[in-house]
Amino acid sequence: MSNPGNDGGGRGRRPGGKPSNRPAGRAGRPNVKQDNRFATRKDKSFTPHVDTVKPIYQQTGMYFAQIAGGMEELGARELEQLGATEVNIINRGLDFKADQETLMRINYRSRLITRVLAPMHKFRAENAEALYLETKRIDWTNIFKLEQTFAVFANVSYSNIDHSQFAALKVKDSVVDMFRRRFRNQRPNIDAHDPDLWIALHIHENEATLSIDCSGGSLHKRGYRQQSFESPMQETLAAAILEISGWDGKKKLYDPMCGSGTLLSEAWLKAGNIPPQVLRKKFGFMMLPDYDRRVWVKVKFEEENKVKLVRGGLIRGSDLSPKAVKLTRENNARLPGGDELIVKTADFRNLPPMDNHLIVCNPPYGTRLVENDDMVPFYQEFGDFLKQKCQGSQAYVYFGDRALIGAVGLKASMKMPIRNGGLDGRLVWYELY
Ligand SMILES: C[S@@+](CC[C@H](N)C(=O)[O-])C[C@H]1O[C@@H](n2cnc3c(N)ncnc32)[C@H](O)[C@@H]1O
Repeated sequence: MSNPGNDGGGRGRRPGGKPSNRPAGRAGRPNVKQDNRFATRKDKSFTPHVDTVKPIYQQTGMYFAQIAGGMEELGARELEQLGATEVNIINRGLDFKADQETLMRINYRSRLITRVLAPMHKFRAENAEALYLETKRIDWTNIFKLEQTFAVFANVSYSNIDHSQFAALKVKDSVVDMFRRRFRNQRPNIDAHDPDLWIALHIHENEATLSIDCSGGSLHKRGYRQQSFESPMQETLAAAILEISGWDGKKKLYDPMCGSGTLLSEAWLKAGNIPPQVLRKKFGFMMLPDYDRRVWVKVKFEEENKVKLVRGGLIRGSDLSPKAVKLTRENNARLPGGDELIVKTADFRNLPPMDNHLIVCNPPYGTRLVENDDMVPFYQEFGDFLKQKCQGSQAYVYFGDRALIGAVGLKASMKMPIRNGGLDGRLVWYELY
């Protein structure tokens, strides 16, 4: 049988080549602006292609949360606190059960989860044709409108279809063809950056799962960090470090190398009990066929009522670079009450003593071993700063390069591997007597 897709983006592509998980739209044909004048005129003769399936999440109430490797235990605890049940840890992810209200609360409130997926359909995908046909068993025209945009992201492993981008294109073709049949050859556009609907495809050992991203783009994007400075930390990692430290939002917190201020902004959110997604306007769960806006209004109202802003003096920071300090101020000012944050330009070597604080930071590191060798004296001085000026405090330091831990010259209370982007970093904590 010939390739069932008829959209230019998928034509002529075959499995093979370097796997990737970029969205299908990027490699597809340039998006031609559609003439949607007939958008609402459905083809009356349309019948669903094959038996449509009831979405899995509606049958089971189960969802899947993605989380960075090493943070699964913390994530499980957080999900339970937010009302999820039947939480199961699997590699870099968590299965959990939730009703619609809980699902919304998790997306709005979670500090650690990267994304929540609502599974729609699971099937064998031995080849491209099976993938194309099984995708049609979901009535996509019931999920989003012709005038809305979508994108597909895929990851594949140990399967006959071994190219993520190719797999994503097959799903995209199938969805587009369903719309074309139903809407007199009209099709929805792809938006690879900020679509209305993200469709996620996962294929492992030829078992495929199609899901809707009910976060609507990664939850690490909180919206407060519009610009970043020198190797910024992922927001979810910064939140995890605060969680691990056991910080209760009462003890004074200081970041002596704050960069664009991610640790400070996450501390601001936590201390004020501000939902991390307070700035997000659009969530993927709004695309679910059973989305109930009244439930969302209720959840948002309840969660916003729990906010208790803190005073600026509780959370402070500094950086050698005036540009970094300016960015930190601007970023934090996007959060409720955030213009009260106290940040200044300073070399950590010149800071006054600070006892009984929680010190959190992520010192600079090079990307090459040679550069990092040059940084040994810097880390020695940082160790002296902690020893001499932070007595009676605790420090949680994230090392992008674990080879530099020894240079600090302090006995660590604990070390924990945590990845930040592509870095195999370590979180190290010190009790400073
Ligand atoms: C890896 S970045 C921190 C990134 C930050 N956690 C964020 O998320 O944006 C390290 C920071 O240390 C700062 N820095 C380097 N030397 C310093 C010094 N002697 N005193 C204070 N800050 C310094 C740099 O300007 C840079 O912003």
